[in-house]
Amino acid sequence: MASSPTSSTSVESLLKENRIFAPTGAQAAALGGAAVSSVDEYKAMHARSIADPSGFWGEVAQDFEWFTPWSSVLEWHCPDARWFVDATTNICHNAIDRHVLDGHAHAVGLIWEGEPQAHGLPEIRHLSYGELLDEVSRFANALKSLGVVKGDIVTLYMGMVPELPIAMLACARIGAAHSVIFGGFPAPSIVDRVLDAKSRVIVTCDGAWRRGSVVPLKQNVDEAIALLSAQAHNVEHCVVLKRTAQEIPWNAARDQWWHDVVAHASTDCACEAVDSEDLLFVLYTSGSTGKPKGIRHTTGGYMVYTAFTARMTFNLKPNTGQVFWCTADIGWVTGHSYIVYGILPNRVPTLMYEGAPNFPAEDRFWEIIERHRVTHFYTAPTAIRAFMKWGEEHPKKHDLTTLKLLGTVGEPINPEAWIWYHEQIGASRCPIVDTFWQTETGGHVITPLPCVTPTLPGSCTVPFFGIDAAIVDEHGTEMPANTGGLLVIRKPWPSMLRGIHGDRPRFIETYWSRIPGMYLAGDGARRDERGYFWIMGRVDDVINVSGHRLGTMEVESALVSHASVVEAAVVGMPHEIKGTGIAAFVTLGPGGTPSDALKSELREHVASVLGAIAKPDMIRFTNALPKTRSGKIMRRLLRDIAAGRDSKQDTSTLDDLGALAALRGNDE
Ligand code: PRX
Repeated sequence: MASSPTSSTSVESLLKENRIFAPTGAQAAALGGAAVSSVDEYKAMHARSIADPSGFWGEVAQDFEWFTPWSSVLEWHCPDARWFVDATTNICHNAIDRHVLDGHAHAVGLIWEGEPQAHGLPEIRHLSYGELLDEVSRFANALKSLGVVKGDIVTLYMGMVPELPIAMLACARIGAAHSVIFGGFPAPSIVDRVLDAKSRVIVTCDGAWRRGSVVPLKQNVDEAIALLSAQAHNVEHCVVLKRTAQEIPWNAARDQWWHDVVAHASTDCACEAVDSEDLLFVLYTSGSTGKPKGIRHTTGGYMVYTAFTARMTFNLKPNTGQVFWCTADIGWVTGHSYIVYGILPNRVPTLMYEGAPNFPAEDRFWEIIERHRVTHFYTAPTAIRAFMKWGEEHPKKHDLTTLKLLGTVGEPINPEAWIWYHEQIGASRCPIVDTFWQTETGGHVITPLPCVTPTLPGSCTVPFFGIDAAIVDEHGTEMPANTGGLLVIRKPWPSMLRGIHGDRPRFIETYWSRIPGMYLAGDGARRDERGYFWIMGRVDDVINVSGHRLGTMEVESALVSHASVVEAAVVGMPHEIKGTGIAAFVTLGPGGTPSDALKSELREHVASVLGAIAKPDMIRFTNALPKTRSGKIMRRLLRDIAAGRDSKQDTSTLDDLGALAALRGNDE
């Protein structure tokens, strides 16, 4: 593993903008007051949260309802944490039931907007906490009637429809875990994940709307189920929500419509009392090997941390007209934590949009903000760069004055995009929170507190409460200010991953073995003299494409599974919109002839294995890949070639200088 940053967003480019954006009184007034009174108060609270995590989190957890209390707040035997030991609760109770019990049954909890605009207006649904409770309870009973029991993992492969969070909460309600698979993944990705989770029940939709077309979800599931039976895994039930209403294949022994299974289900379903450490969900994410890893999150710690980060980082306050919109897909952790689990307990309506940002036109997001009077908008730098490219005339067409806070997540934000976001979307008045976190961390770990932390474009600023973040060298020694190193977290926090599903050795090896006793995030970063963090990008063989993690080995395996390819090396390269694009260097076998047609075929082939996200942006054919004498592909060299940089690296260990010369001369 190289310890140099691999991201295209270099420190140099981040340093071009060095204005500091101080919080203003007007911002705090708009948000109903800041979450803490000053930077000094943040510092004191942070220091206490590190010195006395049990005291700190024990107090925060009082805001949630528990069925039985904890015997101790934390038990830590690195790398195993148990939070709120022996306590029982249910996250669904805290997200929904408690609001109904507190007299807010009629308050809106979920706002949903569909993509199609048949007669000029899209389909819109407002679901109150009372309605959510009924829908979730019905589906929970339906799952029970299909034989789902506590401890099972139900796979959810759906579009962005309200029934997806309803299904997640229904699983949680009965003590079952879920594994949500992003609807953009093709059948082979479903197969891996269903097998790993041993799911016997899959919930899907007939199709999903995306940019005016139908994504054939049910067809993909059928394909996956066929591949699974060839591997002796039997999916017993497939529940299908009707969304797009096209003809779909049907297996009467296995398939049931959602509307049928809930038709006679009762709205009465008590929340199961689950242990704080019971599995809530598994979510698969790319690692540096070819196989995605199932990140395990448990109930109590995840519930407390995601809802508390949401409250502090976004300054959420119920009953104040706030409408929170996170544009992520629920198939990724951002959607899990900040569309569903972190927002609902705060009793602020969470908005979900089904489709693409440019359908039917490039102003769709701004239209949504205007229509639903969105106050909080949380999106990814890659989306902001696309908005910049589409032009400021699109946001200008709409009334965005309801916005009070903007957020970003998923990748380093380049200062140009930050400033554009601040000026064009936030009208230079909304604070921006650049939140750094990961599937593994469950919630924000480095982030400003709005109206408190002065912000610098490109920096995710300071650690959240309970996060003992540091930049260290290979030996775990802290680096001096402004020196790049490895980002680690030295203390446990409530929503930290509890493991990789079914793979303890990989859990230890990936996060805990390189620097014993510390959680290794896998990112390079530096901390400036103010103590602010600047993320420089992944230091492993993972690239961050449009804010989504992709293992280069996954893309390489997909390429090599094509009949013409014998060897492939994949690296990240700078990309104007995506942040990092995918460059593939490919060696063909005797049957393969380099051509543009073959390049397109390979791109489509990768998409059919890993999804459209993984399509290489650039493919170069080569007779040989540059390797060291011990046979390792020289990736840093390939990164330089892909970026068009003149490599000044030492090539003395390179085995085949001819291969390098050929690559340099071979343009796309
Ligand atoms: O490289 C970091 C980048 O995204 C990675 C985590 O990806 P994932 O687990 O898919 O979760 C993404 C959404 C939480 C990190 O290791 N990353 C995430 N947020 C930021 C970021 N890089 C820089 N700045 C951020 N704010």
